[in-house]
Order: sequence, then structure tokens, then C-alpha cells
Amino acid sequence: MYSWEQAREKVNKFIAGLDIEKEPKELYRPITYILSQSGKRVRPVLLLMAYNMYRDDIDAALYPAVAMETYHNYTLIHDDVMDRADMRRGMPTVAAKWGDNAAILSGDTALVLAYEFMSHVADDKLRDMLALFTQTAKEIGEGQQYDMEFETRDEVSEQEYIEMIRLKTSVLLAACLKMGGILAGASEADLANLYAYGQTMGLAFQLQDDLLDVYGDTKIFGKKIGGDIVCNKKTFLLIKAMETATPEQLSDIKGRMAQDTFDREQKVEYFTNLYNELGIRKMCEDRINELFAQCDSYIEKIALPKEKKTALKEFADTLLNRNI
Ligand code: IPE
Ligand code: IPE
Ligand code: MG
Ligand code: MG
Ligand code: MG
Repeated sequence: MYSWEQAREKVNKFIAGLDIEKEPKELYRPITYILSQSGKRVRPVLLLMAYNMYRDDIDAALYPAVAMETYHNYTLIHDDVMDRADMRRGMPTVAAKWGDNAAILSGDTALVLAYEFMSHVADDKLRDMLALFTQTAKEIGEGQQYDMEFETRDEVSEQEYIEMIRLKTSVLLAACLKMGGILAGASEADLANLYAYGQTMGLAFQLQDDLLDVYGDTKIFGKKIGGDIVCNKKTFLLIKAMETATPEQLSDIKGRMAQDTFDREQKVEYFTNLYNELGIRKMCEDRINELFAQCDSYIEKIALPKEKKTALKEFADTLLNRNI
């Protein structure tokens, strides 16, 4: 069996060998730019590891794995326009480097490329794979739409937030795991458990992303700290802060969010101090740990010997402790 590091190495080699840059270069250059960056490759690695639990020939699953990474990179190109972000993976975003028009069109083309890569899947699996891919892509659009709508809403419940991140983030991790299972011919019961595992892991993963957006180290995390605060994103942190704030703090929070012009640093500092004061970091960490613990129950149910699950468990452990 392959370790997750070996699976990631295979993904990186495969991406490096893709021949994407056709004419006009201005269209394809941003795609190779983002795809060749040092992303964690969580989605393709999950797909390969799920496949590898059942079968050894993981090279056979590389095209669909890289299709999902390409799809993910497309969502990032557009997400950075929507979130007004100018830094990702320690580099300027596509929009910051080439402008919004390039981000729109290169993003669209990356999405189409993802479908092209997916079409390499064997005929007997292709229909199921495309159905899952398409359903997942629609849900991600729904999640991203809620994410944006929530920016201008005063209050968002924890339940609404969880559903939003399930859609924008979790279903992609879940789909990748299930795809690995589909390609390897896993049973329906295993497919359901793989999906549920990915979905719970995805919630924890997005909570970590929200946490790192405030408490991460830009040099490691690769994104500008405080991006969510600046955009009034209704993150777990903000929702919990609004829940636990005193009435005075709450009106102050709402006042800050309503300001159209503000000093970026001051706003980030205000919310960070507030989170510190209210113990929000610990609340978020506790929830992340709870969710990771829940994941285990799904992986236990997968009808395979223990040793087949160790690589995936090790990968989950590294994700649990991530600061990148
Ligand atoms: C960023 O995904 C978007 C989220 C869903 C949080 P990753 O944290 O997997 O980003 P990369 O691909 O490793 O850069
Ligand atoms: C990203 O959520 C979700 C998708 C890209 C679909 P975020 O907006 O939190 O991701 P980052 O923090 O910019 O990577
Ligand atoms: Mg976003
Ligand atoms: Mg973003
Ligand atoms: Mg984020």
C-alpha cells in the first residue's frame, strides 16, 4: 500500500507531466500557475487512498484524482475573486497577477479541463463518476452562494453555517473518497461510509481553515491572515463570538461589520482581540477534535481489515494537526 506522501508524490508528478499550455498562453498560463503550486493535494490523495484500500494499481485512478484537484483549483481561482483575496499558497492569486477577467476565463477553462480529465475513466464507471462529480459541483456552487449571501446578513445560525460549509467544502472531500471506492468496485455500504467519513472530515477541515484565517501564520498558511474578518464572513468563530458576546459587545460587533470604510489592520485586530477575550479559539478547536473523532466511527464500519485503513487514518491525523 502507498503512504499518503507517496500518493501525493504521484499526483504532483502526474500534474507536472500534463500538457496544458496551448495557445493562447494567456488563457492556459494561469491554470498551470495555480496547478503547479504547492497545494496540499488533499482531494486527489483522498481519492487515491480510498482506491488503494481495495486495489494496488493506483496509477489507474490518477486521471480522476487530478481531475478533482483541477476542479478544486478552479474553485480557488474564482473564490479569490469573490473573497477579494490577493494571496494564496504564498503567491499572488490569479486575479491579483492577471486580473479578474483572466480569473473568470482561466477558471472556466480549468473547470472544463477537469471534466476532460475525468472523461479518461473507464466506460463502465464513467456514468457514476460523472453523476457524482456533477452533483458535487452543483452543491459547491450552492455553498459558495450561501457563503456570499451570509456576508451581508447580520446573523447566521450555527446550523446554517454548518450546512453552508458542508456544501462548499465537505461534499468535495466526500465525493473524492467515494470516487476512489467507485473506481475500485467497493460495496454500496462502503461507499456510503466513505462519503460520510469525508463529509465529517470536510466540516472539521473548513473549521480549521476558518481558525487558521485568524490564528495562522501567513508564511506557512500561504494566505493573508484576517481575510474572513475583512469580508464579514460568518465563520464559526464569528457566530460563536456573537452568541457569547455581551449586549454591548454585540452592538459593537454589528457596528464594525456595518462600516464600509475601515482600516484593515484595525478591524482584524479588533475581532482577534474579541475572539481571544471570549475564548473562541478553544471552542473552535474543541469542535474540530469532536468532528475528527466522529470520522473514526465511519472508517471503522468500512468492511476491510484494519491494516488497509492505516494510511487514510495517518493522513487524517496529519490534517488534524495542520497549520497549512
Ligand atoms: C482551500 O483548500 C479551500 C478550502 C476548502 C478551505 P485547501 O486548504 O485544501 O487548499 P490547498 O489546495 O492545499 O491550497
Ligand atoms: C473555500 O472557502 C471554499 C471553496 C473554494 C469552494 P474559503 O473561501 O474559506 O477558502 P480559502 O480560505 O479562500 O482557501
Ligand atoms: Mg470563500
Ligand atoms: Mg476564500
Ligand atoms: Mg478560508
